Amino acid sequence: MELTVDARPLAEIETEALVCYVFDQEKPIEGILAQLDAASGGALAKLAASGELTGKMLESTLLYYPQGLAAQRLLILGAGKKEKYGTPELRKLAATAVRSLKARQVKKLTFLARENDRSADAAEAIVEGLILANFDSDKYKTDKKPATELAAASIAGWDESSRANADLGLARGRVIAESQNFARELGNEPSNRLTPRMLAERAAAMAREAGLAVEILDEKKIEELKMGALISVAQGSAEPPRMIVITYTPENLKPGAPVLGLVGKAITFDTGGISIKPANDMEKMKYDMCGGAAMIGAMRAISTLKPSCKVIAIVPSAENMPGGRAQKPGDVQISMSGKSIEVINTDAEGRLILADGIAYAKQLGCTHLIDAATLTGAIVIALASINVGVFGSDQAFTDQLLASAKAAGEKMWPLPLDDEYREMIKSGIADMQNVGNSRGGGAITAAMFLKEFTGDTPWIHLDIAGTAWQDDAKPWNAKGATGVGVRTLIDLAMKFGTNGSSAK
Ligand code: BES
Ligand code: ZN
Ligand code: ZN
Repeated sequence: MELTVDARPLAEIETEALVCYVFDQEKPIEGILAQLDAASGGALAKLAASGELTGKMLESTLLYYPQGLAAQRLLILGAGKKEKYGTPELRKLAATAVRSLKARQVKKLTFLARENDRSADAAEAIVEGLILANFDSDKYKTDKKPATELAAASIAGWDESSRANADLGLARGRVIAESQNFARELGNEPSNRLTPRMLAERAAAMAREAGLAVEILDEKKIEELKMGALISVAQGSAEPPRMIVITYTPENLKPGAPVLGLVGKAITFDTGGISIKPANDMEKMKYDMCGGAAMIGAMRAISTLKPSCKVIAIVPSAENMPGGRAQKPGDVQISMSGKSIEVINTDAEGRLILADGIAYAKQLGCTHLIDAATLTGAIVIALASINVGVFGSDQAFTDQLLASAKAAGEKMWPLPLDDEYREMIKSGIADMQNVGNSRGGGAITAAMFLKEFTGDTPWIHLDIAGTAWQDDAKPWNAKGATGVGVRTLIDLAMKFGTNGSSAK
């Protein structure tokens, strides 16, 4: 999508659709909206007086060939209550405009920011909304409508004094949202079209294009490094595992500076293995690689935005299948760290591959770790598909992550990791078992398991099982993989290691 800043007076903006927004009970119509109203001969004031234009969140009013404007259409969206309004709402408004106008074959729109939305952050949120909403997954449809995408969009409202904000926000928003879409594209791929080897190839191609260092460990190297937990998951499949390592190194890196490690679960399909899953909904388990995709997507943006800290993405990838060579409940595996694991349930495979991912990240010199994984059904029970579950071993680091989530407009919620939960993964014959021994706290015992491999390295675990996939389309978003985590991780990386803001 072509993106530009349009600095013309608003009545002169020639476009297929000019988009603006009004707050709930905004009376009288103020600021730039009043200018629009005046230019169009009071059309908006009349609509408001008739009760049709109320400003309720996502209310949509479309005028054709509005008098006095050069635009062919004027779309006014409801922005909801002013007190509840912020950049997440702005992002959603821009996105909703794209999806509703795209459905009407509009190919170019201009999004007019209100008078209080002239910061770089606001421009960034708008551009993100535009790009994220323009994403659809019709790759495998042969009856694709010709060009269902919006070809171009402009942002308007910035004058000479604030123009730099628009340019900055546009550039940042573009790379962030395109990287999130990159992660979504991977998440939507069926497992026969995205095996661990293919994921590694796509990650490596992205890294090469972005100028990032990349190393793909194949099954031989994985064996050499004694990654017994990753091997145990992959052994039931004809598809060999991969460990994808992508490194961003800033210029002038100081010795001893903190290194951020991003470890992502990439099970390209999770049948459950011998502890096989029921047939219902199993097809969705192609998205069990979204943690890995989020890390790869974040690295894509990091290569352009260039934070001052070193960042390494470590993505263990395998297919979890039953079969003659598959691991069986009760098997004991030795992980790369040397710790032994009794595999009670082969469907709790994500934590196994992450155990070796975490151990390898530490070996590579990461001083701070974040993992993202579609790890448990239990997190869906706890938080539904609204919030990402956050578990952290270091309060300052976790607070930083939560602040980044807020800034990026991704909902995340902290959950506990008390020592008492450790009891629940005690094994009779190994150092630990891979599932909790009672029914409760499934997301917590999974996190406790991962914690065993982090040692004293500050670490955060993001359980994205509920949030990485959206079952239904929303007015602002297509259904399918969401790319959750990408924006937060980018925000954190950009702030990490600057002015002592990294934990410890
Ligand atoms: N990939 C699943 C978790 C999952 C569930 C992701 C629903 C997305 C939606 C994971 O590997 C798994 O199967 N976890 C088990 C663990 C259990 C056996 C302790 C689960 O949550 O049921
Ligand atoms: Zn599983
Ligand atoms: Zn899984």
